[in-house]
Amino acid sequence: MKLFLDTADLDAIRRIKRLGMLDGVTTNPSHVSKTGLDPQELYPLICGEVDGPVSLETVGTDADQIFKEGLALAAVADNVVVKVPLLPEGLIAVRRLAGEGIATNVTVTFSANQAILAAKAGADYVSPFVGRLDGVGHDGMDLVRQIHQIYDNYDFKTQIITAAVRHPIHVLQAALAGSHICTMAPAVFDQLYEHPLTDSGIAQFLADWRKVPNQHPETAGVPAPM
Ligand code: E4P
Repeated sequence: MKLFLDTADLDAIRRIKRLGMLDGVTTNPSHVSKTGLDPQELYPLICGEVDGPVSLETVGTDADQIFKEGLALAAVADNVVVKVPLLPEGLIAVRRLAGEGIATNVTVTFSANQAILAAKAGADYVSPFVGRLDGVGHDGMDLVRQIHQIYDNYDFKTQIITAAVRHPIHVLQAALAGSHICTMAPAVFDQLYEHPLTDSGIAQFLADWRKVPNQHPETAGVPAPM
């Protein structure tokens, strides 16, 4: 499963990128608004930082407007994926953008029927918002399982981006459900490697190593040459 960051925070993107396993980024209008930056300046910086797809979202509500916005966003960089909210007008625009060879991600998706429409419109990605469904008493991950099965049944090529992820269990469940991608906040990404037993285990090893004789600060941990 590919791991994406769901953020427009450049510092966070650079920090997680250092780990060497960042596969892409998804942004949305709320993330961009939080940065206080001009999207015209921010978007090229994010796209230049990421070796993988970067979703940039449209805000229009009619097909012509969304299509034009999509063309402008796609011109920002080669790795742009135009993220379009699931509106009937959005689906019309997705088909037109697909016809131009522009990659799209249908977002704000809450049902399997919506995901069928996204695939039929020619979207490259669909983003079911699992955490928001959980928040209103549904099982968000059940939606990911349904979409995965439907796409398998009909050999749709659209990839599932499990989104609105709230915690590492969502990431695990997305992987078990066969989601192609999981996008998450930097704080959730950090939780993937954090574990209290790892911390205490390493602390114990380091404490014991300090008791080993003949330690030299520059060669600690490196066997002495023969
Ligand atoms: C996905 O691409 C969205 O940006 C994101 O996950 C939105 O979800 P949230 O605002 O509920 O976290």
